[in-house]
Amino acid sequence: MTTIDTLPTMPNYTEEDHTTWATLYARQMERMPAFASRLFLEGFPKLQLDPQRLPDPQVVSERLHALSGWTLGDAENEYLGPDEWFAHIAERRFPVTNYIRKPQDLEFTPLPDLFHEYFGHLAFFTNRRFGDIAQTFGPLYFAGDERQRLEIARLWWFTTEFGLMREDDQLKAFGAGLLSSIGEMDKAFAPETPRLPFDIRRAATMPSAVYEMHQVYFILDDLEHIARIIHAYAHDEGLPVPDC
Ligand SMILES: [Fe+2]
Repeated sequence: MTTIDTLPTMPNYTEEDHTTWATLYARQMERMPAFASRLFLEGFPKLQLDPQRLPDPQVVSERLHALSGWTLGDAENEYLGPDEWFAHIAERRFPVTNYIRKPQDLEFTPLPDLFHEYFGHLAFFTNRRFGDIAQTFGPLYFAGDERQRLEIARLWWFTTEFGLMREDDQLKAFGAGLLSSIGEMDKAFAPETPRLPFDIRRAATMPSAVYEMHQVYFILDDLEHIARIIHAYAHDEGLPVPDC
């Protein structure tokens, strides 16, 4: 069960902070029915986030735990190192910050803020199957050597953060970095942007763009495709293949 000291504190947010949340929420939500993957659309209402007010991590963590056994962890308001990040993931904890972007960064925030985390990521963690697949990244990461760890982090990046997903004959936004950013979503769906079938070797060796938008996006066939990616990578690299 979640304990309060594993969560970020909830600061005294200003009214401007709440307005930033409400503005982002309204703008992104408008686009979700057309652009978001089914898994997002099914999971998001279960979070019961308040469209007007910033979320309380304790409440959301408990809600999530009841749904999928995941809880929230403390991302310590900056990028955790990959070791700390995947240690959380291995224990079914999703790290969140309590930082909300400033009004001038509505389109794109280089540092992930809580809007990115709650709006972009958490809907997926209401789904037990997604949660099970996501969790396998943790032990696999720790089984890897230095090169493999970097590559596993990139596979996480190009699936859960910036993946597109094919649904029927349409492409949908799957990655949280797309769902939570109007700018990055526009970029991912722009006619001139390369969108490629998921290529494990290519994704694993491609530097991920943390402080700018991506030049290329990879397409997932469905949720199970992520499990297949992880299995194939583990198999090819001689790492323990997750039984998931
Ligand atoms: Fe993220």
